Amino acid sequence: MLGMGESEPVRLPDGESSPVNVVIIHQSRTGNTQRAAELIGGAAEAAGATVSVRPVTNIDFKELADADLVFVGTWVDGLILFGHRPGDSDKVRRIPKLWNKRVAAFMTHAVNPGGAAEKFAALLEEHGADVVAARSLNRRRLETEAPAFADEVLAAASA
Ligand SMILES: Cc1cc2nc3c(=O)[nH]c(=O)nc-3n(C[C@H](O)[C@H](O)[C@H](O)COP(=O)(O)O)c2cc1C
Repeated sequence: MLGMGESEPVRLPDGESSPVNVVIIHQSRTGNTQRAAELIGGAAEAAGATVSVRPVTNIDFKELADADLVFVGTWVDGLILFGHRPGDSDKVRRIPKLWNKRVAAFMTHAVNPGGAAEKFAALLEEHGADVVAARSLNRRRLETEAPAFADEVLAAASA
């Protein structure tokens, strides 16, 4: 799995092609995670993918069924120094089960995400996802960190 600052490549079985349909789902209270989702979407589009960006409350089931790669994002909830966890995890759990889907987990945080990205990855795995990457992005550096994360995931997925 691509982790915090790592760049371990994710290999697909031989013969599998690069992602074509990318769906990006976000849960955002103050707009940062939504912005990250839009930036990830822009990077995926620039890489040639067909992209859809949606809040968790407005998911298109067919679009999700057709997705080759799904990004799911939420915010980091915690007490800054400890207790980090995925924000609004109840809402994330309400999205359809992600059986057989390759999923990249992303989060946004203010200063310290702790182990929230790993917890989010575990939540998504429990939800049926094949999590290929998990990272929290600093809300002040979204413009650089979000497209960089998208590019890494797309490159690994098509390697
Ligand atoms: C209740 C609450 C707890 C938070 N805890 C943390 C934290 O432990 N560490 C951190 O870096 N940011 C923390 N944040 C900041 C948010 O993770 C950050 O602002 C995030 O980008 C918000 O995303 P959104 O705009 O998509 O809602 C917290 C925010 C809230 C509202």
